[in-house]
Amino acid sequence: MSFSLSSVLRPHILSVKPYSSARDEYEGTEGIFLDANENPFGSATGQPYNRYPDPYQAQLKRKIANLKHVRPEQIFLGNGSDEPIDLLIRAACTPGQDEIILLPPTYGMYEVSAGINNVPMVKVSLTPDFQLDVPATLAAIAAHPKAKLIFLCSPNNPTGNSLQREDVIQIIEAFAGLVIVDEAYIDFSSEPSFITLLDRFPNLVVLQTFSKAWGLAALRLGMAFASAELISVLNKIKAPYNVNALTQQLASESLDNLTVKDKMVKEIISQRELLLVQLSTLPLVQKVFPSDANFLLVRVPDGKRVYQYLVDGKIIVRDRSGVRLCEGCLRITVGTPDENSKLIESLSAYRNPNN
Ligand SMILES: Cc1ncc(COP(=O)(O)O)c(C=O)c1O
Repeated sequence: MSFSLSSVLRPHILSVKPYSSARDEYEGTEGIFLDANENPFGSATGQPYNRYPDPYQAQLKRKIANLKHVRPEQIFLGNGSDEPIDLLIRAACTPGQDEIILLPPTYGMYEVSAGINNVPMVKVSLTPDFQLDVPATLAAIAAHPKAKLIFLCSPNNPTGNSLQREDVIQIIEAFAGLVIVDEAYIDFSSEPSFITLLDRFPNLVVLQTFSKAWGLAALRLGMAFASAELISVLNKIKAPYNVNALTQQLASESLDNLTVKDKMVKEIISQRELLLVQLSTLPLVQKVFPSDANFLLVRVPDGKRVYQYLVDGKIIVRDRSGVRLCEGCLRITVGTPDENSKLIESLSAYRNPNN
């Protein structure tokens, strides 16, 4: 399938003139800066936060580019990955007209963002083992020429599994729009990232985040990797200073501590495997789905009741029992060893009131 970015974007987007910030117009770092209506004295915190941050996060992108083996021009940074999800929908889909294809059960924000933007959704269910239904997805692509985006999530939330690589490639090859592969949980997986395929597929976008493996959910920093052409469009339509200075600084520092992140990831994976074994032996648990993420999807006879029981004991998990194909399921994030033991202890003590 041949791909043309200009035919995927809303017609007016290419000609939109972006806001030109003070930092766009003068890029030097030395001088008397009287151009951005900032406070010259400092801030009430005593810290130097009085100056606007780099709107394109050049230093941070250089470090990320090194780590991910891409060019800085192939990176967009946003306020969490939720920002590029929204920007991609706004860039490509004319409200009420163009469509997006979703593959439930999956991460809820794709649907929320599409809803906010009044973009109709075409849903193709995953198979019962949470893989792509390739024939049905190809049929949806053929039947919906107005579909501009497909969101895939691998490892998938809330199911935890990775999608089969060959299936994803088949979809990327067959679709004339953008295929967004959300890899929020990729660090917990032994599967390779799709980032390596960016140069092969101009219609591929890969999302990653600092919120999970890096332990920086509070900072709100998401990454989108794509062709330089598409990234320049996202940069054009984003809010001028969408990633604040503190986030840029702390994320940059964390990239110098790669081994700390790797150690945490290793510990989470080993706790995940232990939790999987322990949960599987509980009489209450019907099934624990294998996971490439930092959570486990666990099927119990009455998800709602077990959820409430855990909440009453101040253990908060996510009730996914109402989601199709996840009936009766709870999504449980892997915690510290102590937290996981308390979870197992609590579930071991559960008594079904109907027995
Ligand atoms: C699949 C997936 N993508 C994206 C996100 C959001 O990431 P961020 O914190 O970067 O907005 C989540 C958060 O749970 C997620 O599960």
